[in-house]
Amino acid sequence: MNEALRAALSGVIDPELRRPITELGMVTDAELDGATAHIGIKLTIEGCPLKNTIQTDVREAVSQVDGVEDVEIDLGYMDAEARNRLRDQLGHTKTNPFADPANLTQVYAIASGKGGVGKSTVTANLAASLASSGLSVGIVDADVHGFSIPGLLGITQPPTKLEDMILPPVVEVPESERTGLGKDRIPGSIRVISIGMFVEDNRPIAWRGPMLHRALEQFLTDVHFGDLDVLLLDLPPGTGDIAISMSQLVPNAGLVVVSTPQVAAVDVAERAGTMSLQTGQKVVGVVENMAAMIMPDGTRMDIFGSGGGEKLSERLTESLGADVPLLGSVPLDLALREGGDDGVPVVWSNPVSPSAVALRDVAEGIRGLKRGLSGRSLPLDLH
Ligand SMILES: Nc1ncnc2c1ncn2[C@@H]1O[C@H](COP(=O)(O)OP(=O)(O)OP(=O)(O)O)[C@@H](O)[C@H]1O
Ligand SMILES: [Mg+2]
Repeated sequence: MNEALRAALSGVIDPELRRPITELGMVTDAELDGATAHIGIKLTIEGCPLKNTIQTDVREAVSQVDGVEDVEIDLGYMDAEARNRLRDQLGHTKTNPFADPANLTQVYAIASGKGGVGKSTVTANLAASLASSGLSVGIVDADVHGFSIPGLLGITQPPTKLEDMILPPVVEVPESERTGLGKDRIPGSIRVISIGMFVEDNRPIAWRGPMLHRALEQFLTDVHFGDLDVLLLDLPPGTGDIAISMSQLVPNAGLVVVSTPQVAAVDVAERAGTMSLQTGQKVVGVVENMAAMIMPDGTRMDIFGSGGGEKLSERLTESLGADVPLLGSVPLDLALREGGDDGVPVVWSNPVSPSAVALRDVAEGIRGLKRGLSGRSLPLDLH
């Protein structure tokens, strides 16, 4: 293999696996014949959705090499044996890595008492904000009946199956937002898995508890998230089957409780928070959403009342006997709703809007939480 070409190819990153293609056994040939570079590439699976991206990146990288005027790419596909080798190399063990107490990923479940308070919107924006600062973030859309994360992040690409392993679609941080590089000197990213990616024609899902549990378990064992800094679990509203399953599958997850400022909403949100007494999870904080709208003249309009987030944080701190801080208060904001509808989270589409500023603060708060404390059962006397 031509060394200069190989070196150039080591700068091409597989969009799904987020590693240089040279390390993944995807480059089978790299020779210079006169001014023509002949490159052999083996993609993981036939019909790989990222075929064009990889080809374009290979062409661009190789054209930079001195003396190359023409690039010819011979595209092939790995056979089962090569795919198995790759799977082994990736260290995929078909176990749920997040249940291992030694796992270093910070895991947070975004919960609420009632529906429509903005859990999914908060989840998508926290992920985007954390990814901007260079972190590798994963999202499990655990709202099996009301999945919405793919839409909020504009994901249309399906997951890729690599033998018995699933590679989740990756959302890249937009160029304008790259404030940090991750530990591999690759910008942060979001890997998302959602039941919505396995359902045809937006059909409703009529699964009962055990099937839901099995589906969620499969998300955690079969999906290759790689080395994540943070994993966010977008829960459905309330304290039903899914919330309980998730607490069993990922006992280390810290709960982030989202509520509107409305008193009635705070009451139900408190119940979602105190469920942690039964599941042994730790409530790491409260996010108030749909707080005062800032009017064009600068005045505030408290459509859903005010003070609910503060109240919820005080009540949970008291009933759980541990500090449950208010991580932030996100105002009602047109920009945020529009961002969600367009599939670009507001922290990316309109970073100076009031909601984006507040959501970035919440992300900072989450980043600052010490892993290790989250998830430990609280030394509470329940009698
Ligand atoms: N701060 C905000 N300002 C304006 N619109 C918002 C705000 N937060 C959320 N929304 C809008 O409210 C709707 C509900 O938000 P979202 O889907 O995130 O809530 P949810 O709690 O995940 O709902 P569900 O319980 O159905 O899962 C969405 O249309 C979203 O765009
Ligand atoms: Mg939701």
